[in-house]
Amino acid sequence: MERQLDEVAGKLLQQSLEQRGMRFLMGAQTEALLPAASGRVGAVRFKAGTTPEPEVPADLVVMAVGIRPNTALAESAGLRCERGIVVNALNVPSVSAEQLARVVGKLSAKQVYACGPSGFVDAARSLTEGQVRSFMAEGFTPMAPITVADAATATVKVHLTASQRDLEIPTNLSILDALEAQGLKPKVGCRMGVCRTCVCTRTEGTTLDLQTGEQDAQPGIDVRICMTRARTDLTLDL
Ligand code: FES
Repeated sequence: MERQLDEVAGKLLQQSLEQRGMRFLMGAQTEALLPAASGRVGAVRFKAGTTPEPEVPADLVVMAVGIRPNTALAESAGLRCERGIVVNALNVPSVSAEQLARVVGKLSAKQVYACGPSGFVDAARSLTEGQVRSFMAEGFTPMAPITVADAATATVKVHLTASQRDLEIPTNLSILDALEAQGLKPKVGCRMGVCRTCVCTRTEGTTLDLQTGEQDAQPGIDVRICMTRARTDLTLDL
């Protein structure tokens, strides 16, 4: 998975999967799928010299092809590209109409599909407007959090089961912000309710979803703590 993970992360993934009983034959090149007596696949044969094991028995063979991003347009626009486009680089220039025409050729013959954050879709639309055969897009914007006027003084008790901590947090902050304010470092990603990195299980208590405005008290429910405020004392699997 060299396109998705760097070497260190790839090794960590491999170790984790090996601990679950998987075995890896790195660099092995498949030469043939050998049939069993039943007529279904019975083994995989590898090209000589690519692995110490010439064959492995198999009941099922799953094949996957990798992905290779086409970074030509990004590179021609001066964006930093490594295994893909480096998205957290600062001061990246935008793509000009000339660069676009140079990379994709005759625009008037092209059907354009754009999918991504709405700012990207808008930029792609304005760059190609009136110049392409058709433009189809799917843009997404995280739902904005609702405004909730909670008193700054109200607090609730939170019990964290995994770390065995008991805290008191204010109800006018997201649970994530409140925990971080006390020095905790829960797993976090987008902070916008999109990536679900911050999800944990709420085993007890009532929370308010800052995107839907709904309160929920059902035990054993996963909550995104970046988009959730406490409404009562809570027990969280953190
Ligand atoms: S950090 Fe991404 S959903 Fe909470």
